[in-house]
Amino acid sequence: MCGIVGYVGQKQALEVVVAGLRRLEYRGYDSAGVAVIADGHLETRKKAGKLTNLETLLGEDPLPNSTTGIGHTRWATHGGPTDSNAHPHVSEDGRIAVIHNGIIENFAVLREELTAAGVTLTSETDTEVVAHMLARALPAVGDSLQVAMQAVCSQLEGAFTLVVIDPSQPDIVVGARRNSPLVVGVGDGENFLASDVAAFFEHTRNALELGQDQIVTLTAESVTVTDFSGNPVTPRAFTVDWDASAAEKGGFDLFMLKEISEQPKAVADSLRGRTSPQGRIQLDELTLDESVFRDITKVVVVACGTAAHAGMVAKYAIEHWTRLPVDVELASEFRYRDPVVGPDSLVIAISQSGETMDTLMALRHAAAQGARTLAICNTVGSTIPRESDAVLYTYAGPEIAVASTKAFLTQIIAAYLVGLFLAQARGALTEEEIRGILQDLNDMPQKVDLVLDTVEPVRALAQQLSTATSVLFLGRHVGYPVALEGALKLKELAYMHAEGFPAGELKHGPIALIEDGVPVVVVVPSPRGRAVLHDKIISNIQEVRARGAVIIAVAEEGDEVITGFADHVIRVPEVPPLMQPLVSTVPLQVFACEMATVKGHDVDQPRNLAKSVTVE
Ligand code: G6P
Repeated sequence: MCGIVGYVGQKQALEVVVAGLRRLEYRGYDSAGVAVIADGHLETRKKAGKLTNLETLLGEDPLPNSTTGIGHTRWATHGGPTDSNAHPHVSEDGRIAVIHNGIIENFAVLREELTAAGVTLTSETDTEVVAHMLARALPAVGDSLQVAMQAVCSQLEGAFTLVVIDPSQPDIVVGARRNSPLVVGVGDGENFLASDVAAFFEHTRNALELGQDQIVTLTAESVTVTDFSGNPVTPRAFTVDWDASAAEKGGFDLFMLKEISEQPKAVADSLRGRTSPQGRIQLDELTLDESVFRDITKVVVVACGTAAHAGMVAKYAIEHWTRLPVDVELASEFRYRDPVVGPDSLVIAISQSGETMDTLMALRHAAAQGARTLAICNTVGSTIPRESDAVLYTYAGPEIAVASTKAFLTQIIAAYLVGLFLAQARGALTEEEIRGILQDLNDMPQKVDLVLDTVEPVRALAQQLSTATSVLFLGRHVGYPVALEGALKLKELAYMHAEGFPAGELKHGPIALIEDGVPVVVVVPSPRGRAVLHDKIISNIQEVRARGAVIIAVAEEGDEVITGFADHVIRVPEVPPLMQPLVSTVPLQVFACEMATVKGHDVDQPRNLAKSVTVE
């Protein structure tokens, strides 16, 4: 939520900052703004709306050359998405420009104190108080921006990443972080600060993680990190191994379409190197002792949105393979209901960004109860893996479109690997069984490729159904979380009423929603294996069909029975039942993407959403 970039070096800061903001726009796009230091004073430009509005303004009213600058793209919390609420915010004396991600929870008190002291605040934001507080703190600390930042941060409550510049110290950029993300890019004669590495990885692959309650001071040649009391800290260095082209559209009209098409590779990359030549699961990154995996008595998954759906899919597999109970909790509810977790629990936090505040807080709560924690994450250097006992990275590469696609498939893969690792450690599956499942997983990139090759008719179907006001999604077993994910994609992108239900639950209420012509997407279980599920879903289809629903079945090749019960059939390849989500989700992603496109929506940046939600 909110993207932040800071730069000091030899290049034109504005160019670096705006390019970085473009990469971070997925974090919020209610407004954008920049500030640079030129000839000993601050120059800012800011504009409500997407980054392109700011770029237009910069064209009309250019900024002077400068090698020190900051920029911000906003997801509004305090104060509407207006020009005056856009960041940077500047102190009354015009000295300090500040950008912020997070929520300063005690801002009302601070605001009152400032007002009482005669300061006039010009925005409705919580951020502006920081600019005034810093300006007022500077004289007492010998004008050291770093020390003033320590003093101010110690008075703030809540979540914040702050980045500030001061024209009287034109060659430094100072940042601070508590709870919200901030990483350092270490260049050659230039340094960067950003909400995530996407903002600078085309300039440098060398990065530093910042911990909780730390302050960083950048010059072109140095990076100094301290805690809020000024004690020096040595940050952990890491390397960004993303392919530079991964953050470009690469010939696709939309990032989402590109990311959908990258799923076979993302799945393959997330499986690679995680099996020994003998066919054993080998997760070297799981630095937890194997005894932990043997001794736990329950697994709890905490996650939000799409990541929670991946957790729900994984529950079916992990329980089946390990016979351990698996709870899947929406992270935002977890810590507020006194959950039963302790040293015998493995709490798995699934998060593409590694920064989702609800998930982070759930993870911290679990850790405080003594639980062992494991992150499944796509973003190296992010907070959730850093605060977990162990991490298993997904290798989806950067996911830019707000609606998650390739991250979902790789989260399922990673959670399945954890499930197999648990089964192996506990002797719950034989080596042969594990080898068989691994073979199924290794077949999946090719199966997903097949789906992509045959998905074109889904677009025509979306166009045909684009006037529908409501779409329901039904599934059973692992098809249920897929139904939830299909509905979530449609809500996020097409702004339509869409709901996913377990097909068996339909008759207990949701069936009242069915009327003539309502499209119902049904994720049909395989007729092979547990045919009972197939039979039951056919009955559920009959129930809604009898009431006028238009049935769109997502069914496997060779399921001929379904043709007699569906108005439209979307075919996916035959795969083992637990692998089905990896193929059946893909057409639903395409369906939502096309539906949104037909409606003229911005698919990559849907309204009101942000990809990385760093507030609770
Ligand atoms: C936001 C995004 C969703 C995402 C969820 C969890 O709500 O809009 O697409 O699934 O956050 O994000 P995470 O980064 O933790 O996977």
